[in-house]
Amino acid sequence: MRFVEIENERGERFVHAAVARAVVGYSAKDPVPAKARRQAHLDAIFRGHGRAPAASTVLAATDQKGNELYGAVVLDAPFYATLAVQDPERARALAQLHRVVAGLFVADAYRGDGLGTYLLCEIAAGHALERGARYLDGFVDDRNGSADFYRTAGLTVMAHNTGLPSRRPSLTALEHHQELDGHWFYLDLWATYVDRMRCKECAGELTFVPDDLGGDLRCPRTRVDEVGRLVHDVRPAPGGQP
Ligand SMILES: CC(C)(COP(=O)(O)OP(=O)(O)OC[C@H]1O[C@@H](n2cnc3c(N)ncnc32)[C@H](O)[C@@H]1OP(=O)(O)O)[C@@H](O)C(=O)NCCC(=O)NCCS
Ligand SMILES: [Zn+2]
Repeated sequence: MRFVEIENERGERFVHAAVARAVVGYSAKDPVPAKARRQAHLDAIFRGHGRAPAASTVLAATDQKGNELYGAVVLDAPFYATLAVQDPERARALAQLHRVVAGLFVADAYRGDGLGTYLLCEIAAGHALERGARYLDGFVDDRNGSADFYRTAGLTVMAHNTGLPSRRPSLTALEHHQELDGHWFYLDLWATYVDRMRCKECAGELTFVPDDLGGDLRCPRTRVDEVGRLVHDVRPAPGGQP
């Protein structure tokens, strides 16, 4: 088995169609133009602020030759048109720090063997982490009956028809949409994979400091100075002098 990012249109359409067959409530109508439209919106709010995240990414598990599809996960960078107008900075933070699990499936014959968990907690999580995202967010429609799968995989599964809480650093809650029935879920990648993260200043290990708003990663070599700023201690140079 191998895990690949599908980057050609034909492959993307094929995987979207497979996800749509497996996941109730997944819309695969015109996935390629829909992605291009969302990418244009994201590019627009990121103009002058660095590179926009990919609007949609298809990660698939296939056989060695890439002929058979065992399962896949589709990750989207969130974009909310109203927020983009009202508060572009927050819209950028959401797009950068959150990835939405738009769809996840494992082909019938390969279920029950850990592949779904691996696609979610290694492939999707690793992809998001490498791009600096902090959260995997998502929604599972009741008709799929898969909320327990996300619980077993260690994600936080919200009460029925309850949106996602406001979390650091974007501090933006996600309301439940009335026309849906199911469970929202999320995974805090920084809290879960703290051992894979390194301090940007000193490349040392980080500590996760929890709080009600999601907590944060801290370098143990930082401290708050007299005027309340967070400063990083200068590490002594190998010669001994700072
Ligand atoms: C949900 C799905 C992706 C799970 O894939 P999988 O490879 O079978 O999952 P895993 O083997 O990693 O299962 C991990 C655990 O979750 C449990 N689990 C798997 N599917 C479940 C489901 N639908 N409901 C509840 N629990 C489930 C398994 O029993 C297993 O628990 P265990 O380790 O205690 O035995 C797969 O069943 C699927 O494609 N379902 C249809 C589409 C769907 O519902 N997608 C998710 C909503 S977007
Ligand atoms: Zn540090």
